[in-house]
Amino acid sequence: MEGLDRKTESLVFDKRTMTALYKIMEDLSIGYIDYPVSSGKESVVFKAFMKKKPVALKIFKISTIKFSTLEKYIYGDRRFEKERKDRSTRVFLWCRKEFINLQELHKAGVNAPIPIGYNKNVLVMQYLGSAKSPAPLLKNCDGDFDSLFKVIKNQMWTMYNKARLVHADLSEYNILVHKGKPYFIDVGQTVDRDHPSADEFLERDIFNICNFFRRKGVPADAKELLKFLNGEKVE
Ligand SMILES: Nc1ncnc2c1ncn2[C@@H]1O[C@H](COP(=O)(O)OP(=O)(O)OP(=O)(O)O)[C@@H](O)[C@H]1O
Ligand SMILES: [Mg+2]
Repeated sequence: MEGLDRKTESLVFDKRTMTALYKIMEDLSIGYIDYPVSSGKESVVFKAFMKKKPVALKIFKISTIKFSTLEKYIYGDRRFEKERKDRSTRVFLWCRKEFINLQELHKAGVNAPIPIGYNKNVLVMQYLGSAKSPAPLLKNCDGDFDSLFKVIKNQMWTMYNKARLVHADLSEYNILVHKGKPYFIDVGQTVDRDHPSADEFLERDIFNICNFFRRKGVPADAKELLKFLNGEKVE
């Protein structure tokens, strides 16, 4: 059976994932999995119901986390230095890292989905969206971009200075606009500020955000944003 499980990547989920899914559904009283919100290379996100309330269920594909990714975003993050990082369990570490990052963002007051629980490679968090549809990506939303930029700038400040984290994959593809407010998502790769590549990741995040907002007509300047993130917050 073991051999078969490892070879069945073309099937939807392997046995370990199914077991983790059953376990977390039981533990959190998730009675019902609704439609898939998104299905990508690295994960599948479903809307599900926990005691009748909607939650998002993110299932990380077992084979996705490459060693090079792990090396880049986990080695160097002091919080995870002592963890086991072997091939068969690294995706679990990735999932737990996303959970812990969400907790830290929350504590610091950054808008991000509230983490609810995890088991192995299955993460459960607050569902962002309405009864009708999931919240749109920043990329696809039509809002007041001047004010969205202002809020995102402040959220980035709080993330960098209060949570002391760098998102490391921030762009219009990893921000959802929920009830008019931007929420940062997809924080598995997020590292702490002391990571040796933190500056490089931060500059890339800044570059992506400024590029997007400039295309929307907002005068977003990367140098200014970097200075803002490194300075005292002025409301
Ligand atoms: N908490 C949530 N509530 C509602 N929708 C969500 C939530 N989290 C993620 N999504 C949706 O699922 C998509 C994928 O999530 P995420 O960005 O975290 O995963 P990913 O690792 O980038 O996956 P992929 O392999 O698809 O790129 C998001 O673009 C968003 O549309
Ligand atoms: Mg994403």
